[in-house]
Amino acid sequence: MVKSRPHIILSAAMTLDGKIASKIGDSKLSSRKDKIRIHKLRAQVNAILVGNNTVKRDDPLLTVRYAKGKNPMRIVLDSKATIHPKSRIIKTCSKIPTIIAVSKKASRKAIANLEKYPLEVVVLGKNHVDVKKLLKVLARKKIKKILLEGGGTVNWEFVRLGLVDEAIVTIEPYLVGGKDATSLVEGQGFTLISKSTKLKLQKVMPQGNEVVLHYTS
Ligand SMILES: NC(=O)c1ccc[n+]([C@@H]2O[C@H](COP(=O)([O-])OP(=O)(O)OC[C@H]3O[C@@H](n4cnc5c(N)ncnc54)[C@H](OP(=O)(O)O)[C@@H]3O)[C@@H](O)[C@H]2O)c1
Repeated sequence: MVKSRPHIILSAAMTLDGKIASKIGDSKLSSRKDKIRIHKLRAQVNAILVGNNTVKRDDPLLTVRYAKGKNPMRIVLDSKATIHPKSRIIKTCSKIPTIIAVSKKASRKAIANLEKYPLEVVVLGKNHVDVKKLLKVLARKKIKKILLEGGGTVNWEFVRLGLVDEAIVTIEPYLVGGKDATSLVEGQGFTLISKSTKLKLQKVMPQGNEVVLHYTS
């Protein structure tokens, strides 16, 4: 059967206690070995998707640099079209295809400002970006595989909607703690374990002082 939406791979590096960033947003968790592995994975997908806070906190490029391969498209969920013009994503959008997905909450002015750049703005959803509609738009653009690179709030949206097909998570040898540190999956969470997303463990890959876990739905 032909899938009507792209395949979603959740990818993250998290501490042994399940955090993807410290309470002040420090997310420098990955070793060089893991960066190489992630960049090889990036080269195999059509797009990388992240949330607005990840762009604000980390200012990521979301490119393939530690491995050889083509840069995938970048997609940012940014309801109010507030991505900074000086962000590395905007600064490199003439070279790497970029979609900024906004909602109807974004002002016309903010959208017009974004449209000055060589990128695509899609307006989907009332208050937040409607992820299901976005995936339909992306499927029409022949986007078959998406690497979901967080953060925790966007990860929850995909988990909540039952859209995670694979999860590849590196367990980093840190215990960072902090109730305000960002967890792998944030949001409201499920009330019962029996109602939560259950995945199948496919592979355990020791990697120096880290372990890479691969799950499928
Ligand atoms: N270790 C790792 O692998 C890793 C990977 C990625 C990120 N991180 C860390 O994670 C932290 C950021 O995570 P976060 O949870 O604060 O934020 P996030 O998931 O990066 O972004 C969340 C934001 O995305 C926007 N958004 C738009 N539509 C949405 C939708 N339908 N569902 C959910 N969000 C939507 C919302 O802001 P608007 O309403 O303004 O649009 C929302 O607040 C950073 O500290 C970063 O360093 C770590």
